[in-house]
Amino acid sequence: MKGSLGFIGLFLSFLSDAVHGDSAFMTFACGDTLHNCMYICEVCHNLYGGPTMDCLSALVSHVCLSNFENAMASLNSTDWCIWDNVKSSYSNLSNCTENISDCLRIPWPNPLVERTFVEIHSRFFKDCPSEELTDPPPAIIFALVITPICLIPVMVSLVVFKTKNGDGSS
Ligand SMILES: *[C@@H]1O[C@H](CO)[C@@H](O)[C@H](O)[C@H]1NC(C)=O
Ligand SMILES: *[C@@H]1O[C@H](CO)[C@@H](O)[C@H](O)[C@H]1NC(C)=O
Ligand SMILES: *[C@@H]1O[C@H](CO)[C@@H](O)[C@H](O)[C@H]1NC(C)=O
Ligand SMILES: *[C@@H]1O[C@H](CO)[C@@H](O)[C@H](O)[C@H]1NC(C)=O
Repeated sequence: MKGSLGFIGLFLSFLSDAVHGDSAFMTFACGDTLHNCMYICEVCHNLYGGPTMDCLSALVSHVCLSNFENAMASLNSTDWCIWDNVKSSYSNLSNCTENISDCLRIPWPNPLVERTFVEIHSRFFKDCPSEELTDPPPAIIFALVITPICLIPVMVSLVVFKTKNGDGSS
């Protein structure tokens, strides 16, 4: 916790450095389509020496994930499985990881972002019912399996009965 506060402090101090100009020393290409790319690239330049995956990982967890976690914390956990409640935070999270990756010129999606989403799912949506993905209840599977098996003796006796009848009439 202390470490993460320290990181946020550093991050904020670099943000304010960046606000006061002084990005001339940047040594790598920085995405320029988003106005705050400059800050993001400076953080990576100053803390990691370049646009590394470690820097992306730190930024994603401190900027994007913390936002998402706060949004989830403000919801009753019984509401996490209702898509309408979470979709804006969820797409914001995705958008945020895309923005930062773009700034650092790291292709998106990338393994780090994928891991982040897998982790999100196992933390928040693990217990959500998802009808398309889960198996039907065991009772239904049992019925589906047992019905044809029970029909076999019925078929056999029908055939035997018909054959006997045929024999009798001929
Ligand atoms: C969360 O939802 C449940 C059921 O809807 C309710 O009983 C509970 O009081 C809620 N908790 C909060 C903190 O709103
Ligand atoms: C989306 O994320 C940004 C920061 O990345 C944050 O400032 C904003 O409040 C978030 N919006 C929503 C709807 O979560
Ligand atoms: C991503 O960048 C766009 C364009 O600058 C901005 O509108 C949007 O709010 C950013 N998204 C987040 C989550 O910060
Ligand atoms: C993020 O969302 C904003 C609008 O909310 C959009 O303008 C921007 O292009 C998105 N960024 C990316 C990288 O998709």
